[in-house]
Amino acid sequence: MVQEFAPPTTEWYYPTEEIVTNAHVPDYDAVYNDAMQDVEAFWAQRAQTLHWFQPWEKVLDSSNAPFYKWFVGGKTNITYNAVDRHAKTWRKNKLAMIWEGEPGDKRTISYWRLNQEVNRFANILKSMGVRRGDRVTIYMGRIPELPIAMLACAKIGAIHSVVYGGFSEQSLADRIEDAQSRVVITADGAWLRGKIVNLKAVVNEAIHRSPVVEHVIVVKRTGHDIHMEEGRDYWYHDLAGLPIASTRCETEEMDAEDPLFILYTSGTTGKPKGVLHTHGGYQVYTSTTLEWVFDLKDEDRWWCAADPGWITGHSYIVYAPLILGATSFMYEGAPDYPYPSRYWKMIEEYGLTVLYTAPTAIRGLMRFGEAWPNRYDLSSLRLLGSVGEPINPEAWRWYFEHVGKKRCPIMDTWWQTETGGFMITPLPSVGLKPGSATRPFPGIEVDVVDEDGNSCPPGVDGKLVIKKPWPGMLRTVYGDPDRYVKQYWSEYSRQGWYLAGDSARKDEDGYVWIIGRIDDVIKVSGYRLGTAEVESGLVSHAAVAEAAVIGVPDEVKGNVIYAYCILRAGVQASKELEDELKNHIRHEVGPIAVPSHIEFVDKLPKTRSGKIMRRVLKARAMGLPEGDLSTLEE
Ligand code: WTA
Repeated sequence: MVQEFAPPTTEWYYPTEEIVTNAHVPDYDAVYNDAMQDVEAFWAQRAQTLHWFQPWEKVLDSSNAPFYKWFVGGKTNITYNAVDRHAKTWRKNKLAMIWEGEPGDKRTISYWRLNQEVNRFANILKSMGVRRGDRVTIYMGRIPELPIAMLACAKIGAIHSVVYGGFSEQSLADRIEDAQSRVVITADGAWLRGKIVNLKAVVNEAIHRSPVVEHVIVVKRTGHDIHMEEGRDYWYHDLAGLPIASTRCETEEMDAEDPLFILYTSGTTGKPKGVLHTHGGYQVYTSTTLEWVFDLKDEDRWWCAADPGWITGHSYIVYAPLILGATSFMYEGAPDYPYPSRYWKMIEEYGLTVLYTAPTAIRGLMRFGEAWPNRYDLSSLRLLGSVGEPINPEAWRWYFEHVGKKRCPIMDTWWQTETGGFMITPLPSVGLKPGSATRPFPGIEVDVVDEDGNSCPPGVDGKLVIKKPWPGMLRTVYGDPDRYVKQYWSEYSRQGWYLAGDSARKDEDGYVWIIGRIDDVIKVSGYRLGTAEVESGLVSHAAVAEAAVIGVPDEVKGNVIYAYCILRAGVQASKELEDELKNHIRHEVGPIAVPSHIEFVDKLPKTRSGKIMRRVLKARAMGLPEGDLSTLEE
């Protein structure tokens, strides 16, 4: 395996006494040990903080493992907990969301207003024939209507499938098709780096390829000219003015195990898989983890700078902060637009207290130097966070010194689309080591094991496993339960452990150091992509016979994509063709999947059974030893 990450450092950072005494969890060890005594009782206690229309009969049902069920028999609705209940208390006057658009426009939404907007959107969805259990695809930029649409779906029991705006035609078409969505919610466009991303044009083409869609609801954001298909496409603002769009709508009483959303993510092989989460367990898990890890209090202004189209945004822009009744900040555009001061300026202007972002964003801003953050008053910040990939100690230190001014501990949270929320993470009261996500959250048991399932001794690499079910876990792969079992539960089926797909090592203090993926998943700027997606995008071009892609370490993006293509007979390799292929990927898969480098080759290293040996390509690209070649065909 290629090592991508620097070895553990021995530096320690300890939180101040003030941070520890104010924390929800001042003593991690005590709370962890207590939770592990009786994990079900621990989660039941956490679930009590939420509203249930009807209490559960059983906390955990393992009878059909790995198809675990949580809070069996309980009736609830995540939107009730995130919105309805706050609109009935003093919180109705509190800001639920503060939003800034890339051009500089601003919006604030109170819990009172949010409730009205969600109800209005829910009524519009109902009028389009959306019912409990129906799948609705959402493809939008970072504007308040995105969370509102998600909450509206959940409210009426529909299942949302948000597709990240950085994906294009074919990716969107595949996801619409897999979910069989009859309704799509989108916007005319989105602002990014001063330009318009033409979302509606992508939707038009995707529906052409996946004609299951009957209605499209279009939010006006950029106001540029778009094609609206008569009888299929409706402007949201037109619908919102109709009498049916009243601000009163019943919240459906959902079963705890009823599906809440599907989120497509990349796996080892084939098409992206639809990770399925449910109402009951997910709300308990996301709200508990956010409250304890970022110590959210009523006076906070929380900023998760991720995209709502990824799990980080689902859990920590939308659901968890709202369940906690917090004020969540959302920004539409690029971190360095129009200047590299954008983040720092907004932190000062809004007095944001916690910033949670990705190492790639930190490294990207670090490039411009500390003069940018130093020019702003960042003293409102009290905690920082990191997610998506290992944070290299250099970026960690820069973030700590120049953004947090050595006052703010950094919560490096390891988790996955599949886990729903933070799994291995510090709490503000624990000692930190730059580059380590530290130890598991209370109630979570993790280990680093070898092929046979033995715990690896400190310092030895192994596979990361999760040994006990947790409420925020995925329940299945949508429409493909076999894949769920095979992908996550077959490697250690005897022990009943969940395979995370990451390699890691522990140190003498039990701190976990994530090394990277062991499968064909590539993390580009923290975004998760499968080699298969990019490869099938390449071979869908007439010039390409076969393709293989790998991730190669990059200073800012974490990884970039290198592609190797065998051309069809008679096709000449050229610089123009390389550019054309990049453009093709931009359109088919999305801008995030464009290879930084395409090489035309005659052969690809394969095993005798015909499987491409990507590790050989990777070793060659990085100038490293090629390792064991005994299975190589030639
Ligand atoms: C990686 C993102 C190191 C890891 C929430 C995991 C991390 C994959 C960290 C999941 C971290 C996420 N340190 N690696 N703090 N956080 N990863 O599904 O490889 O987009 O398996 O979820 O990101 O990516 P996903």
